[in-house]
Amino acid sequence: MRSHLLKLCTIIVAVLFSGCPPKTEVAGGGGGNGAAGGGDILIGEYGSLTGGQATFGTSTHQAIIMAMDEINAAGGVNGRKIKVLTEDDESKTEEAANAVTKLISQNNVLTILGEVASSCSLAAAPICQSNKVPMITPSSTNPEVTKKGDYIFRTCFTDDYQGENIARYAATQLHYKKAAILTDVKNDYSTGLTTTIDRVFTSLGGKIIAKQSYANLDSDFRSQLTAIRAANPEVIFVPGYYTDVGQIAIQARDLGMKQPLMGGDGWESPKLIEIGGKALEGCMYTNHYFYGDPNPMVHNFVQKYKERFGSIPDGMAALGYDAARVLADAIKRAKKLDGPSLRDAIAATKSFQGVTGTITLGPDRDAVGKKIVIEEVKNGQLTLKATIEPSAGGSATPATAKH
Ligand code: PHE
Repeated sequence: MRSHLLKLCTIIVAVLFSGCPPKTEVAGGGGGNGAAGGGDILIGEYGSLTGGQATFGTSTHQAIIMAMDEINAAGGVNGRKIKVLTEDDESKTEEAANAVTKLISQNNVLTILGEVASSCSLAAAPICQSNKVPMITPSSTNPEVTKKGDYIFRTCFTDDYQGENIARYAATQLHYKKAAILTDVKNDYSTGLTTTIDRVFTSLGGKIIAKQSYANLDSDFRSQLTAIRAANPEVIFVPGYYTDVGQIAIQARDLGMKQPLMGGDGWESPKLIEIGGKALEGCMYTNHYFYGDPNPMVHNFVQKYKERFGSIPDGMAALGYDAARVLADAIKRAKKLDGPSLRDAIAATKSFQGVTGTITLGPDRDAVGKKIVIEEVKNGQLTLKATIEPSAGGSATPATAKH
């Protein structure tokens, strides 16, 4: 009864607030009839297929469809095909909430994959939680996301881990002592990562000598960069998204600044180097996998993705592929096909072999013990600088193989 009321409320909220409902795109098997029947199993996906972070959603979507097509071609899950219903949230938090409401209330999906951007996942997670619809974000790293409730999972590491590794690498491997941070204050990912980098870098004896901020999709960063230039740091942390990072690098070089920029997975996009070009030489960021990894599973994934979509899969694609496969595996193991049973099955995920490493979900519903890589822009190409295995106690192994 309670869940019916909640559903009714979310429908009303959706009707009141959705200016123009996003288009639903359907992929997978034919004619689904929801989780309860014997037809296709309906899975919802919401993502930024258009708007400011369009490459995030597009890469993720392509990889999810690739994973589900492979699973369906091999007979589906327990004899049933998986059908993915996709909503474009236009990279906007309000639309992310609308998209999820629609998938739950109108399409009656069993479970939901998404989002990439932490701000969008934060906006949509409470709706999944209150409707007892398990949500797996492939790539939102902000720690708050999975704190929204026990139906919310992530198959990637968190920004506590990522921020710690960026700061530790800068302080202990590159021996930087003085740093600046340039934060996107309109982006939960950026503000969260800033806090961790600041704390860890300082705890290792470094000093943050300049802190500047901007708002997502600003295009002029000169006044902030001029202030940073005056402080003369050795490195500038830029924990933002690729859209801004390229411009920041160009404007820094225009102002005569030579310091490397360092950031996190938000830099990851085929558009990063296209936008920033030479200005990004020597800049580094952390990521979930390296496309040139000789591991057969990674190699196979990269080949298949390239053949199908004509581009190298970025980190989001690898994470989307893994999240989709973890979800299908949990559906197979679930005692029943309802929210609570599927929730329990996802929570029990252990040692799942993914493209981004081994996935085990910990008690806080975050993937624990994953490796992290550091990539560097060299001669206009992304190269692997170091791999940090959690088993090595967080110490970085420099890249040995050339790719
Ligand atoms: N981790 C970023 C966030 O939470 C999103 C992201 C993931 C971007 C992976 C690129 C690659 O906002």
